Parts: sequence; structure tokens; C-alpha cells
Amino acid sequence: QVDDAEVMVFSVPSYACQRRTTPDDNNSLLTDALSLLAENAELCDQEGRGVAFRRAAAVLKALPKPVTCMTQLRGLPCLGGHSLRVIKEILDNGASSEVESMKHCERYKARKVLTGVFGVGAKTADRWIREGIHTLHQLRDSGHSLNRTQKAGVEHYDDLNQPVSKAEADAVEEIVAKAVVSVLPGAQITLTGGFRRGKLTGHDVDFLITHPEEGREEGLMSKVVSWLESHGFLLYQKTTRNSYLESKDGPARIASNMDRFERCFSIFKLAKEVKRETKQPEIQRETGLQNTVEGPCSVGDHTHIQVDDSILQTDHTSQSQIHADEQRSCEDGGLKPAGHKPWRAVRVDLVVSPFSQFAFALLGWTGSKLFERDLRRWAGQEKAMSLNSHALYDNTQKRYLKATSEEEIFAHLGLEFIPPSERNA
Ligand code: GTP
Ligand code: MN
Ligand code: MN
Repeated sequence: QVDDAEVMVFSVPSYACQRRTTPDDNNSLLTDALSLLAENAELCDQEGRGVAFRRAAAVLKALPKPVTCMTQLRGLPCLGGHSLRVIKEILDNGASSEVESMKHCERYKARKVLTGVFGVGAKTADRWIREGIHTLHQLRDSGHSLNRTQKAGVEHYDDLNQPVSKAEADAVEEIVAKAVVSVLPGAQITLTGGFRRGKLTGHDVDFLITHPEEGREEGLMSKVVSWLESHGFLLYQKTTRNSYLESKDGPARIASNMDRFERCFSIFKLAKEVKRETKQPEIQRETGLQNTVEGPCSVGDHTHIQVDDSILQTDHTSQSQIHADEQRSCEDGGLKPAGHKPWRAVRVDLVVSPFSQFAFALLGWTGSKLFERDLRRWAGQEKAMSLNSHALYDNTQKRYLKATSEEEIFAHLGLEFIPPSERNA
């Protein structure tokens, strides 16, 4: 028994953007349980409950030491009655009965499997579950016609549900960097999302693309996508056009969560790291590309294509190869073991931003989602400002506040600067 007087009582500020949260977690037993409850609420389309559990998990994640007793949590923000009950049960018994029974609940398992398909959200999953569809096999046998995104999601289900490693993210970055400088010299790419925050794995890889000369970035996305497509790197892509400039919404609407950058959701065909044989030509060693990135179909007869000063190995048959793969997979519903294919599918998000909005875009696309949510809430509730991935508007001064760095945005908001690696709320 620990005496109350000796217990370390934690204290954290209530907005996630006021806290430093590294990727490490001293309370993963508790935060995993609360995150599962959050996930379940989100799967049930109960966003408010989901956010409440996410906030509770984030507070525990920010603590410098493991929680050992409830006394330590006195006065902490964002811990509601439900979360506290779950925490207490885990501290007492090592597990939460609610979480354990949820994990074994058929409906939860079905929701997880179905929303695990890229392009399937909570509503679609629930519609299918009501029809008795709980598994991918049942989905295939149901005869439902899937849209293009969902077809890709089913086809690459296993790959897309396997976490992306940092090494894979680096390999994707080299490919995207090559694509970007090839179609527009001087354009810049920045890794955003979880990997910019120092996470070791992710569900996708996120990039922000810009050019230091305002306006040069126009039309960039379609060129990048064409380059990637012609080099056989894309299994799927969906590009949505920027509508920010065309919109007449004005300041009243900028608090909206929807962002209007040109954006591409894609699935990359990434060569698996293969042990290189020693007979690699000299020239390939200097390019820095071959060791991590091989052409999408590096096995079989491949050609070398000269791009700038580097060599990308690519296979002219890769596109037809992809179509052949697609057809085979359509027949078996994408549910067959993939076998020994030399590549794997990886989700990649690309966003293009004009240079003048770059700092806001960078801040907005680095995350975490809860950190972003609280930045905007802080801006609105504490500073009477509206923040989104494009701009910061001061509702008192009735003007936009310019910024060319994340540091300036934090300063405008009256917040201490939190570096990306400490935004893992
Ligand atoms: P993992 O990918 O799961 O490792 O985590 P992540 O933090 O990288 O998440 P994700 O790739 O989903 O999102 C990265 C960042 O982009 C987060 O901060 C999101 O808030 C942000 N984001 C994602 N989609 C949108 C969107 O449609 N609009 C805006 N403005 N931001 C978005
Ligand atoms: Mn991500
Ligand atoms: Mn993403």
C-alpha cells in the first residue's frame, strides 16, 4: 500500500497543444484500452464519445511515468467518469471487462474487418453488417458492386493493414522526391503525418509539396501523378482538385475542417527490400536510390531509365503486369494469399500547397489528429481566432495573420512552440 502523501500527483494542461507528447507511452496498457473504446465509438458513428476517449488516452499518454493508483490522477483534465472506471478496473485487475468483451464482440470484429478495407467507412460497414456480411469472403459472395477505391482496398487488404515502417517511408520519399524534381525543378517535398512526428510505423506515408515561387505549384499534382504512373509506381490514385481560391466562403467558413488543397490519395507499389548481390554496377552506388528503392518490378527483365542524374530501374511491362494482377485478384476477390510477390502496396497521401500557405499546411498535416483538433479549439475558444491548414484569421482584428514558419503560428496563438516529435497527443 502506498501512502497518499508520497504519491506523485500528475498535472497536465487541458489542451493537447499545450503539452509535449513524445511517441513513447508510459501507460500503454491504459491508453490502448481507451483507444479501443474510442475506435469502437467512432466505428459506431459516435464521434463525440470517440473524442472523449481519445482525450482521456492523450492525457495519460502525456504522463512522465506509469500510473500506479487513482490518487495520482486527481485534478487531471479530460478524464470523465467512464474513462476513470476503465482505468480503475485495469489498475485493479490488469484488464477492463468492457474492453475485453468488446474485443470478442462479433459486431465489433465485423466493423473492424470491413472498415479495414480502404474506401469503406463506418456507415457502409454497418449497412453490410445489417445484411449479415461480417467477413471479406461474405462481402465477395454477396455480389455487392464495390467502387474503384473499395476494389483496390479489397485487393490490397493484407498489405494495407500491415504497418508501414520508417524504412519503407524513406523509400517512398525517395521516389516522390525524384518524381517532384523531375516534373518541376526547385519544387520541395516534406514528409508530414506520423513519420514527421518521429513515429516508427504508420498506416500511410504523408507528403506536402510546394514551390518557393508562388504559382509555380499550379498543375503540379497531375504531373507528379503522371510521372509516378508512367514509372509503374502507382497501384491506385485518386486526385481531388483545390477549390480554396475559387470559393467565396470567406473568413466565416475558414474554421471548417475541410481543406481545399490539391490532394492525392494513392497506393504505391513498393519494391520489397532485396538483399543486393555484389555485382551491382559502380554507377548505381552513387545514386543513393537503388539501395532502398528498386523499380516496382525488379525481378525479371528490367530496363534502366535515366532520370536526371539517377537511375530508376523500371519494367516496361509493369502497367500490363498490374492489370494482370488486378484481373486475377478480381476473380479470387483479393482474398488469396499474395504469395511471393517482390513488392508490397503502401498507402501514400500527397498534398500540394502554395508557398504562402506552406507553414499552415505543414502544421495542419503533421498531426496528430487530436493535436490539430485542440490547436483549432484553442484558437477559437482562447484567442478568438480561426485556424485551418490554409490560414489564421483574427476575429478581433478582423484580419489574416501571416506566417512563414510553424514557430510564427504558435507565437500568433500565444502558445509555446511544440516541435513535431512532441505533437504525438
Ligand atoms: P498514421 O498515418 O496512422 O501513422 O497517423 P497520421 O498522424 O499520419 O494520420 P493521417 O495520415 O491520417 O493524417 C496525417 C495528418 O493529416 C493529421 O494531422 C490529420 O489531421 C491530417 N489530415 C488528414 N486528412 C485531412 C484532411 O482531409 N484535411 C486536413 N486539413 N487534414 C487532414
Ligand atoms: Mn499518416
Ligand atoms: Mn494520411
